[in-house]
Amino acid sequence: MSFIEKLPGQRVVVTGGAGFVGSNIVRRLLKEGATVIVLDDFYTGDESNLPKDNAKLEVIKGSVTDFDLTRDVVKGAAVVFHEAARNIIVSTRNPREDYEVNIGGTLNVLLAVRECRVPRMVYASSASVYGNPRYLPINEDDSTNMLSPYAVSKFAGENYCKAFYESYGLSTAMVRYSNVYGPAQRPDNPYCGVIAKFFETAMAGQAPRIHGDGEQTRDFTYIDDVVDATLLAGFSPKAEGQVYNVGTGRETSVNQLARMIIQITGTAVEPEYVDRRDIDNIRRRVVNIEKIRRELRWSPSVIIEKGLQYTYQWLQETLS
Ligand SMILES: NC(=O)c1ccc[n+]([C@@H]2O[C@H](COP(=O)([O-])OP(=O)(O)OC[C@H]3O[C@@H](n4cnc5c(N)ncnc54)[C@H](O)[C@@H]3O)[C@@H](O)[C@H]2O)c1
Repeated sequence: MSFIEKLPGQRVVVTGGAGFVGSNIVRRLLKEGATVIVLDDFYTGDESNLPKDNAKLEVIKGSVTDFDLTRDVVKGAAVVFHEAARNIIVSTRNPREDYEVNIGGTLNVLLAVRECRVPRMVYASSASVYGNPRYLPINEDDSTNMLSPYAVSKFAGENYCKAFYESYGLSTAMVRYSNVYGPAQRPDNPYCGVIAKFFETAMAGQAPRIHGDGEQTRDFTYIDDVVDATLLAGFSPKAEGQVYNVGTGRETSVNQLARMIIQITGTAVEPEYVDRRDIDNIRRRVVNIEKIRRELRWSPSVIIEKGLQYTYQWLQETLS
């Protein structure tokens, strides 16, 4: 990958670096020789996600809602990866908290990046900004449709990134992740995604619980691919001011997912069907990844069958 030779000796900041995606980015940056500073309030993040006693890693406990702290942290950074956010469950339960962290916190990061003249900031956005799309697969310039406070706040963050690029020439890049899964997505985190939850129940010999009829679909993306895409967005000159879908282009229903997990774990159960939740209002989602393929030369390398096996291996080692 083209960014790798740029990493040794660089100071890189990861907000939300103790979380699922953030900690995978941190480990990769360290492996490639960067010095990494994590800013995380440990709301959903976990110290155990991060390597211990690594002289090139500094972990600062604090919130992106604290502007002075955020400015001190980003000073001297070559890139800031802004991963910190309240997730969709917290956000649906408490939209004000979501507003303060996901919108207010993102504005703080941008203001800090501008003041400290950081050469690039990457913003972790979400495919949830598309709502229920009219056409599949979804292109980056298709219409957006906010169906949850979380989608509103993630899209607001994107718009601020775009506005800071247009108004102040700040070099921002935005990646719209689609249902990320894999190692470090901890099932004991009540806000973890469906894959970690299904594995947890299947590994305990219980039936995965499907909300609704299970025919809702998503584009499940393996974490290592997401890390690669995010780092490319951080170091590629072409990514400046751009927004990219990060997915696989393959649609998988929740029913298919449950069947695959039951098969991998060898559990003799049938899924259990329960009522849909207020956060389950997106019927189908699969994204078009031609733009990132063409401009950043990224494409996913882990198909879902393989990614689920890697995830299962990690869970077996972690939960044992
Ligand atoms: N996981 C996915 O499927 C997915 C999909 C689309 C978008 N995203 C986005 O990717 C990013 C990372 O998500 P994740 O799945 O790793 O979630 P996560 O909850 O595991 O990680 C978020 C991290 O941010 C930290 N955090 C929360 N509020 C903070 C604050 N005020 N200040 C500092 N740190 C704070 C949390 O403690 C946690 O470590 C988020 O911005 C999320 O919106 C994730």
